[in-house]
Amino acid sequence: MTGTYNIDTLLDGIVTLPSLPSTVNRVTHLVNAPDSSLSDVAKALQTDPALAIKTLRLVNSAYYGLANKIISVDHAVALLGMKVIKNLVFTATVFETFNKGTGALLRHSVSCGVVMRTIIPSVPGFDDMDTEEAFVYGLLHDVGKIIFEQFLPKEVESAILLSRTRGIPVFEAERYVIGVDHAELGGHLAQRWGLSKELVAAISGHHNLAACTLEAARPLAATLAIADFICNACAIVSVPGATPYLPEEMWGTAGIPIASYPRILHAFFDSLGTVDELIELQQ
Ligand SMILES: [Fe+2]
Ligand SMILES: [Fe+2]
Repeated sequence: MTGTYNIDTLLDGIVTLPSLPSTVNRVTHLVNAPDSSLSDVAKALQTDPALAIKTLRLVNSAYYGLANKIISVDHAVALLGMKVIKNLVFTATVFETFNKGTGALLRHSVSCGVVMRTIIPSVPGFDDMDTEEAFVYGLLHDVGKIIFEQFLPKEVESAILLSRTRGIPVFEAERYVIGVDHAELGGHLAQRWGLSKELVAAISGHHNLAACTLEAARPLAATLAIADFICNACAIVSVPGATPYLPEEMWGTAGIPIASYPRILHAFFDSLGTVDELIELQQ
């Protein structure tokens, strides 16, 4: 039995995917363009004062642990570099979208970002990925759930109930009730936002590696699944009462040495305070 929609019918009138503000698009474009300078990026960000202020608040949070307070966008860009700023701007924007959803989902997503930031140096082949980029992976992995909550709240309720009564993972229950799960929908949103094909694939495959749209990104999808599991196992769940679930194959695909786990968990517990701070900053 499958639900009413497939991804095309869902996007064709039921669900409207949010678009990114033009400033974020401009900053992303500049960061990716080979001939743009730091001051071009700073200027683009300053055209949106609300976003510039949010970015500075993030930069100055304990999460980044900088010794001196940064008071200007120019300084932030010069100190942190364009790539970090791009991810910060992106994070500030995504929080706006999350504020439309439930607090539980926001806490789960930020926590998953923090785990990803901690775990990525232990993932073979991805150990040199920028930790801020890894944070964005965690932050966005369940973005499809926000869209579901907004457009299909009754169906989401039924899926959660079904997941509890049958003891099946929420994404599977979504497929029964809606026909599409939040990972597939989130992958579409990431694609619409012009995010990297690795990120699109990792979001799409974070509950089911067969749905990962890029072979090279499978370890990232598996790492996201593990980060998600760690948050759920620590009771930082996106859906109250959800059973922590992790397919066996995720461990081998991520390739994280078992010996790394105590350190990863330790670092995550140490960062829990910054999760609260990041959430408060945005409210
Ligand atoms: Fe998920
Ligand atoms: Fe999740």
